[in-house]
Amino acid sequence: MEEISQMIPFFSNLVIFFLCTILLILLMRWWASRPWLCTCKICTAYLTSSWSEDFDNIVDWYTHLLRESPTRTIHIHVLRNTITANSDNVEHMLKTKFDNYPKGKPFSSILGDLLGRGIFNADGHSWSFQRKMASLELGSLSVRSYAYQIVSHEVRHRLLPLLDSVSGDGKLLDLQDVFRRFSFDTICKISFGLDPGCLELTLPISEFAKAFDMASRLSAKRATSVSPWVWKLKRILNIGSEKELKRAIGMVNELAREVIKQRRKLGFSGNQDLLSRFMGSIDDDAYLSDIVVSFLLAGRDTVSSGITSFFFLLSKYPEVEAAIIAEIRANMVGEDSHRGEDLEREAVPAVLTYNHLRQLQYVHAALYECMRLHPPVQFDSKFALEDDVLPDGTFVKKGTRVTYHQYAMGRMEHTWGETSNEFDPKRWLDDNGKFAPANPYKFPVFQGGQRVCLGKEMALMEMKSVVVSIVKQFKIDVFANSDYHQSPKFISGLTASLHGGLPAKIRKRN
Ligand code: HEM
Repeated sequence: MEEISQMIPFFSNLVIFFLCTILLILLMRWWASRPWLCTCKICTAYLTSSWSEDFDNIVDWYTHLLRESPTRTIHIHVLRNTITANSDNVEHMLKTKFDNYPKGKPFSSILGDLLGRGIFNADGHSWSFQRKMASLELGSLSVRSYAYQIVSHEVRHRLLPLLDSVSGDGKLLDLQDVFRRFSFDTICKISFGLDPGCLELTLPISEFAKAFDMASRLSAKRATSVSPWVWKLKRILNIGSEKELKRAIGMVNELAREVIKQRRKLGFSGNQDLLSRFMGSIDDDAYLSDIVVSFLLAGRDTVSSGITSFFFLLSKYPEVEAAIIAEIRANMVGEDSHRGEDLEREAVPAVLTYNHLRQLQYVHAALYECMRLHPPVQFDSKFALEDDVLPDGTFVKKGTRVTYHQYAMGRMEHTWGETSNEFDPKRWLDDNGKFAPANPYKFPVFQGGQRVCLGKEMALMEMKSVVVSIVKQFKIDVFANSDYHQSPKFISGLTASLHGGLPAKIRKRN
């Protein structure tokens, strides 16, 4: 009996030891299965930033990895992010299995404070309601012509006079800043009927533009946190960047609500802007404000990013510039014969008409070629609702972030051939010199499928108006801040922007 009672502590210690060992093994397994512990080559390079020894931009590193991958898909385990440049996968996400790849909660919480329930940040019913309403408006002839009038007014009365005023003075002008001001003025007028006047000759500082910039920059910064808890905690404590973000968003919302209030007071039925049109069907002012702020975000930096890259590339390819001038001249014949007197009388000649713009096939091709190499939105992510398998065989676990990488896709030799790094607009023209579009899933610069960009036509019209009217009259000498050829250094954000801007000297063309 005594012997047995002596053995009890021994056995209970053994059981405790055994249980602890099992617990330790389970704990170690669980810990090892955590993605943040991944020590694969790619994750190590990501975590230690060692990729930056060979590449200027993270998008260039991803492009390199995607080119090397046989499936054109890679995994950044530590971010739980599957990145693809495979067009079959892109079609699968954006069209075939659209319902399984919503924007998802992680994305909507990052942009939720700025965009609220706006289309850019919505899924499901709220998204489809706004989508229907917005596509009816943006597709209508009256909105298109309203937008064209605003754009040509801004070009004629602000952009060209500004360039005229500095031409020949030998000073550097940051064209990236100029185009951002241009696109902010135009998208505010189109969306709100409000003119912030950012592109007035004195280049004034608009508090609204500043707040909007700050709000979108700091919202994008949230996505770079190692864990969402970092920014969420800062938000709860109202400290650092989260404090600034709250203030900036407060200013944007205050202005949006004030405009809505005034519009309700003065009546909105005769106005053409998007806000007035949406007011006919929506009574909730907070919701209206969210919708319009989404449009500002969608239509502002994307357009200016596209035009900035265009002039960057043009400075490296004089033969493309010459071909554009030749096309503009050939198409100006009809224009000049109708409006010759106007052109002579005006200090700054007129902008081409909408119809003339549409006829410019080479310019159109050059804009597409520019966005192939420099997409304004460099990558775009969705979150898988359920487990799935992509067409290239990649298994996607429920909750995984899946990113299609427009920047890398535009640079894939597999799709664009050996000259994929060259800026060659002719690749977009058929034998008759007409623009021939690419499969949208090979070139998802405007996304594709059910959520394809609603402002594509408007953006192209805006970009063409600017490019044509500048190239026609001015010679732009770009003084880029490094000796890069194709890939400048980018600033991280929701849209691509050039580190150091686009400093240039402006000369008048003879
Ligand atoms: C070169 C200029 C532009 C580019 C490259 C571009 C690209 C894109 C991309 C990639 C998306 C998908 C974003 C996502 O779902 O995460 C998108 C969506 C959208 N874009 Fe654009 N965009 C441009 C200009 C514009 C303009 C000028 C407007 C409006 C006036 C606009 C309105 C929208 C809207 C409303 C959506 C949301 C569509 C939806 O979720 O159903 N975009 N755009």
